[in-house]
Amino acid sequence: MQNPVLEAIYRRRSVREFTPEQVSTEVLQEIIRAGIWAPSGLNNQPWRFVLVGDEQTREQLAALTKYQKIVLAAPALIAVFLDQNAMYDQVKDHQAAGACIQNMLLAAEALGLGAVWLGQILHHKDQVRQVLKLDDHLDLMAVIALGRPVIKERHSQRKPLEDFILKSI
Ligand SMILES: Cc1cc2nc3c(=O)[nH]c(=O)nc-3n(C[C@H](O)[C@H](O)[C@H](O)COP(=O)(O)O)c2cc1C
Repeated sequence: MQNPVLEAIYRRRSVREFTPEQVSTEVLQEIIRAGIWAPSGLNNQPWRFVLVGDEQTREQLAALTKYQKIVLAAPALIAVFLDQNAMYDQVKDHQAAGACIQNMLLAAEALGLGAVWLGQILHHKDQVRQVLKLDDHLDLMAVIALGRPVIKERHSQRKPLEDFILKSI
């Protein structure tokens, strides 16, 4: 089936190697715009973002994850938070954050960038908040590392569809 949305979904791979080329603010804003057009319960839009390009801050964040090589290699990072003051339901707001992050990954793919969703850094989410000088009501959901992808084959696998469909009634 040919369709640009489906093509982006199937083509997208996690990208962990980047060229040093900078990502413009306009492009980063477009990616965030795609994120905020994700659905959210009651349309409460509980997501908040910090854009990080500054080298010193990237080094500080890199020290907070075992994926430090990825963080150091990425010319841009977007830290995604939930604003606890804007939340209304733990499960639904976290689901909305996931939808937002996936929209951003797909937008990056559509714009010819590469990106990876970094979750391991959540083990140090309080320190991330301190590095970024943010208030306690902001809860880290992910850091997205972004940049122009180093060109190489990237493979990923999924189990067969039948493994997931419990019933067709
Ligand atoms: C919640 C979540 C957390 C993740 N955390 C990391 C991470 O910390 N480091 C990393 O390299 N990739 C991370 N990933 C990316 C996954 O490893 C990747 O999506 C998966 O292996 C499938 O590969 P694909 O994205 O290329 O299809 C994470 C993905 C998700 C959804």
